[in-house]
Amino acid sequence: MEIKKVCVLGAGLMGNGITQVCAEAGFQVKMRDIEQRFIDNGMNTITKNLSRDVQKGRKTQAQMDEILARITPTLDLKEAAADADVVVEAVVEIMELKKKVYAELETIVPDKCLFFTNTSGLSITEMAAVTKRPDRFIGTHFFNPVPVMRLLEIIRGYETSDETLATAKAWGEKLGKECIVVKEAPAFVVNRILCLMINEAFFVLGEGLASPEDIDKGMVLGCNHPIGPLALSDLVGNDTMLHVMEGLHRELGDKYRPAPLLVQLVRAGRFGRKSGKGVYDYTAK
Ligand code: 3HC
Repeated sequence: MEIKKVCVLGAGLMGNGITQVCAEAGFQVKMRDIEQRFIDNGMNTITKNLSRDVQKGRKTQAQMDEILARITPTLDLKEAAADADVVVEAVVEIMELKKKVYAELETIVPDKCLFFTNTSGLSITEMAAVTKRPDRFIGTHFFNPVPVMRLLEIIRGYETSDETLATAKAWGEKLGKECIVVKEAPAFVVNRILCLMINEAFFVLGEGLASPEDIDKGMVLGCNHPIGPLALSDLVGNDTMLHVMEGLHRELGDKYRPAPLLVQLVRAGRFGRKSGKGVYDYTAK
C-alpha cells in the first residue's frame, strides 16, 4: 500500500520529530495534540530545526517553506485522522490512554488506514487488540532526536500482516531511516539494553559513587558514547525512562527495578530538558 497522508498524534518530543521527518520526505502530515501550547511548542521546535538547516546551507529557504506547508497542526482528532493513510501515534506511554485513543480512532479513520505506534516498549499486540485492524497495526519505534537518529525499530504484533510490515519498512526507508525488525517483548531490543544501563547510572548516582558529571564523563570517554547516560535520560525525558523501566519491571522482574533516584526525580517534576530541570539544570543555558 502506498502512504501519502500521515496523521501524527502528539506534538511532543517524538511527535514533532516524526512530523518533521515525514514532511521532509514529502508526506502531507497532520500533527494533532490536545492543547494549543503543545502544538505551538512542537511547531516551534520544527521551525527551529529547519531554520538551523537553512543557516548551515543544508536547505534553502524555499525548501523549508515547502516542508512547513506540508504540515497541518490541529487540535481536532477527526480533522487529523479522517483521510489518513496511516496514523502514527506518539502519545504518552500509558497503555490505557493509548487504548482509549485507538478505540476513538476506529470510529474516524478509513478502512485502509494503518496504525503505527511509536512506543518505547509497550505491547503492540495489546494495543492492536482494541482495534478492528490488528493485521494493519505495527510498532514503529523512533529514537530521540528523531531528525538525527538513523534507526527505526519495527516491531510486529501477534496479528501484524506481512503487507503491513513491508509498508512500514518502505515508509521508514523513505524517511531516511535504517530499519531493524524485532520480535515483540517488553521494551523490544534497543530500550531493553539502553534503559537498563541508564537505570544503573541512577543507582550509581544514588549510591553516591561519583558526581553526575563524572558518571557521564566516564561513559563518554571510557566507552565512546556520544553523551553520558544521565544526560541522555534528561534528553529523552526521565518520565519516559521511568515508564520504560516500570514496564520492564512489571513484565520481567526485579532485575529491572527502577532506581529510587529516578523515581524521585520524576516525582519532583524533574523530567529533564523538556521541563527545564532533570539531573542537570537547563534553565540558565
Ligand atoms: N533536534 C534536531 N537536531 C538536533 C537536536 C534536536 N533535538 N539535537 C542536536 N541536533 C543536531 C544538531 O543540529 C547538530 O547538527 P549540526 O551542528 O550539524 O546542526 C547535531 O545534531 C549535533 O548536535 P550538537 O553539536 O548540539 O550536540 P552533540 O554533538 O552532543 O549531539 C546528540 C547531540 C545528537 C543528541 C548526541 O549527543 C547523541 O547522539 N546522543 C545520543 C542520543 C541517543 O542515544 N538517542 C537515543 C535515545 S533512546 C530513545 O530515544 C528511545 C526512547 O524510546 C527512550
